[in-house]
Amino acid sequence: MTGGVPIISLRQVSKRYPGGFEALRLVSFAVEPGEMLFLTGHSGAGKTTLLKLIAAIERANGGAVLVNGQNLSALRPAAIPYLRRNLGLVFQGQKLLFDRSVFDNVMLPLIVTGQPYREAARRARAALDKVGLLQREKANPCALGRRASSDCASRARW
Ligand SMILES: Nc1ncnc2c1ncn2[C@@H]1O[C@H](COP(=O)(O)OP(=O)(O)O)[C@@H](O)[C@H]1O
Ligand SMILES: [Mg+2]
Repeated sequence: MTGGVPIISLRQVSKRYPGGFEALRLVSFAVEPGEMLFLTGHSGAGKTTLLKLIAAIERANGGAVLVNGQNLSALRPAAIPYLRRNLGLVFQGQKLLFDRSVFDNVMLPLIVTGQPYREAARRARAALDKVGLLQREKANPCALGRRASSDCASRARW
């Protein structure tokens, strides 16, 4: 696709971690609205680093990262949550809170971003229904499955 305004664009981006390791060197690309991309590469190639730069979890040492036209190197720390509200990131390590129910875990980001309770509850239940977890909404995430329960077990040891 050409001619559109990119939703994400990287221009000659480099990222060096403290200690001097260069994870990315002079990376440039643009993503047009509606475009679907897959990022592949060997372990250590810099895939996670790239996604972290787009979400302003890490900062580039050189070049420019633009999301929706906004240059992230110029972004004030207070503006970062607003950037992240427009991004959906699912990390391999799930961030579940084990002191509340499955339903309350799904509700949390909706409440934090100011959704009215009833609308948030409707959306949370629709999402749980979609993945077959509506019946388990009152359960603790520890009770959900092998992965979640092993996380619970390791937390219980802390
Ligand atoms: N916080 C960090 N500090 C130092 N080096 C890091 C850090 N995070 C990642 N790296 C290094 O940067 C390189 C790219 O890592 P990463 O982006 O996690 O790759 P991938 O996700 O493709 O496996 C790796 O060599 C990794 O060891
Ligand atoms: Mg990775």
